[in-house]
Amino acid sequence: MANSHLQGGAPFSRIVGTGRFLPGEPVTNDALAQRLAGHGVETSDAWIQERTGITQRYLASAEVSCSDLAVNAARIAMADAGIGADQIDMILVATSTPDMIFPSTACLVQKKLGITQGAAFDVQAVCSGFVYALATADLFIRAGKARNALVIGAEVFSRILDWNDRGTCVLFGDGAGAVVLRASQTPGVLAHRLHARGEYEGILRTPGQISHGNATGHPFLTMDGQAVFKLAVQVLESSAREVLSDAQMQPDQVDWLIPHQANVRILQFTAKRLGLPLSKLVVTVDQHGNTSAASVPMALDVARRDGRVQPGHHVLLQGVGGGFTWGAALVRM
Ligand code: UT7
Repeated sequence: MANSHLQGGAPFSRIVGTGRFLPGEPVTNDALAQRLAGHGVETSDAWIQERTGITQRYLASAEVSCSDLAVNAARIAMADAGIGADQIDMILVATSTPDMIFPSTACLVQKKLGITQGAAFDVQAVCSGFVYALATADLFIRAGKARNALVIGAEVFSRILDWNDRGTCVLFGDGAGAVVLRASQTPGVLAHRLHARGEYEGILRTPGQISHGNATGHPFLTMDGQAVFKLAVQVLESSAREVLSDAQMQPDQVDWLIPHQANVRILQFTAKRLGLPLSKLVVTVDQHGNTSAASVPMALDVARRDGRVQPGHHVLLQGVGGGFTWGAALVRM
């Protein structure tokens, strides 16, 4: 191991900086409905708001890549943590919409940030990606293999949307969120649990592939919305209870619930099933739609910067999505 000086580990990792970045101007439901009507796809602001809570989303222009969004969010998180490029020794990017097949988006982020040390790799767990990446970085830090990890969720989901499928294209948007996770003597990340059930791969997928230089198959997102909805509410509750039990805590000790921002109805169901008041639920999906792996770190950043999440608060972060994957992380800020 190149970082042999790090051997020994720290007892804990802590989130010491957060950042987020959304590309361009918001596209309101009305503006999107108008665009879609132009090619015969019928939808409305009323339907989108009633079924999902979404009012607008951000769509990156053609020249903007996933790594561009990631770098912008990372710079803000690094400034927040007061950390320079020379101190980052691990970069994890959770994404399903990487810049290219390889190198990983994490390596491209490393280059753009001028970082020349440490490991960099992508984590592909779709909308659970950020929680998977956070858990991975926590384990590396506690094993003594990293001290300051940049953990990013970044997506350009607009690139994989079928604009003729009104059941999916109105739901998603682009964006990035990032945290700096640092080795610590005091507890930050208290518990995490990750799960996958590949048998459900068919309910949410982008089943295209590259063959002889061309995208083949169906390189657009498809979803059985109701099946995903039902599974999501079940596993968001069960994974929350698992990490609370691991940390020997009760639901009422959670200060803020930040589930993956897919649909406001799913978020509200989760809070209710856990017996948490809606006032403890952080909701950002209304402002930017479903941004897959970016949604959890963006929502955390929003709630920190507007003063809701305070030092010492217990925050429950949760991902759920394609794979089928899900996971939860309980953190003390
Ligand atoms: O990020 C991973 C996690 N993803 C999720 O958690 C998504 C989970 N699923 C959902 O959030 C919801 O299932 C959706 C928002 C995707 C759909 O809501 P729904 O209440 O399950 O609606 P539905 O699919 O049952 O569709 C109801 C009706 C249908 O019309 P009919 O058959 O009743 O005449 C659809 O054709 O709504 C119609 N519809 C639309 N109408 C206007 C579907 N999409 C649209 C649309 N605009 N965009």
